[in-house]
Amino acid sequence: MFRRTPSLVDVASVFGSIRVQYIRRNCLLLFCTWLLAGLLIIMAVVQTLKATALTSNATAPAPISGFRTLESQVAGHFALRSKPCFLVDKDGYVLKMVDFTRSGSTGFVETAFFESIFNSDESEKDFVELREFLPSYHGLQQLSIGGEHFWYLKLENLVSGFAKPSVMDIKIGQITYDPFAERCKAEREMLKYEFQEELGFRILGSKSFKIKAGITEFLDKSVGKKLKPNEILSYISTFLDLKNVPERARLVSEIISALDRIFQWFSHQERIKFYSSSILIAFDGEKTQYNSSSRRENGSSVQRSDVVCAETDFSISRKDVVVRLIDFPHTYIDLKGQKSLDVNYIYGLKNLIQIFKRLASLYE
Ligand SMILES: Nc1ncnc2c1ncn2[C@@H]1O[C@H](COP(=O)(O)OP(=O)(O)O)[C@@H](O)[C@H]1O
Ligand SMILES: [Mg+2]
Repeated sequence: MFRRTPSLVDVASVFGSIRVQYIRRNCLLLFCTWLLAGLLIIMAVVQTLKATALTSNATAPAPISGFRTLESQVAGHFALRSKPCFLVDKDGYVLKMVDFTRSGSTGFVETAFFESIFNSDESEKDFVELREFLPSYHGLQQLSIGGEHFWYLKLENLVSGFAKPSVMDIKIGQITYDPFAERCKAEREMLKYEFQEELGFRILGSKSFKIKAGITEFLDKSVGKKLKPNEILSYISTFLDLKNVPERARLVSEIISALDRIFQWFSHQERIKFYSSSILIAFDGEKTQYNSSSRRENGSSVQRSDVVCAETDFSISRKDVVVRLIDFPHTYIDLKGQKSLDVNYIYGLKNLIQIFKRLASLYE
């Protein structure tokens, strides 16, 4: 068959069509790259927004001169009306904001609770006994911040004297909303943790100093919410850093005896109902030896002594590990005039003690 030698025109047109195809392919490639980059940017923005939404509560408000932030705070409100909910004053006391302006009465309820317990007559035996399980209360204090006035409860700093406070906040109760809660609030609370009713408590958050790595690990409420009942023990063991510091097994039995004492109090008092209240457990994450130091209960100073005390001395326990009740905006005295045990709280406390006992048995 006759074949004509390709002319310059033919060559040019072939090259032309290759170029067009090349440009087309390149354009397509460029378009896909842009599309992918765009998608990646959108995904990154969404992730950032999500993260901000999750931690917005934890965004630190501007520091207030003359006060420190409560570095060891692991849960709860971090800011209200863009002012810090918790501060530490120059004497080491914790200031907790009470909001008397918000709708609802939580500020009044919590203040009334502290006032009643700490100013009660000595004949109110249950109230007097309860004091040792609470941070001590030193009245209300008003602060002027940016021209506005804010009220704070002045409380004992439960982690004072701890070089590296390890802190865990556990909300107690099968039901964590009070009888005055509106339906939507009650429903929201019920949806927060699927095992709340079964366990009667949930871990809200923790900060734990890891001695080997030299870092403090913060696990917030999103971690606690996902914990299955069979994962709690391991969470607590990690909180105590028992793998790296097996000596801390001793703290487990101290926590059990402290919880037992609280349990004893709950098993006879019939006047107070605690909803959505917490137990705070704290110890010094930097400390690994437990027989030669002493810590003052009040104020912020630490005393050390060389006196080796007996293991059974409860006063030592309180220096090594702090176990206290906190958070009372939904705690009511003589609720509806009825006297009865706080079975809602007792159920959760009992289960919590069981878990600590199981943990202790692993180290016997
Ligand atoms: N007296 C205290 N000493 C040390 N830390 C405290 C004290 N009270 C509260 N905290 C810290 O602040 C967090 C929130 O406290 P809480 O009273 O539960 O506030 P909220 O009402 O915002 O939930 C706790 O989880 C704990 O980490
Ligand atoms: Mg709280």
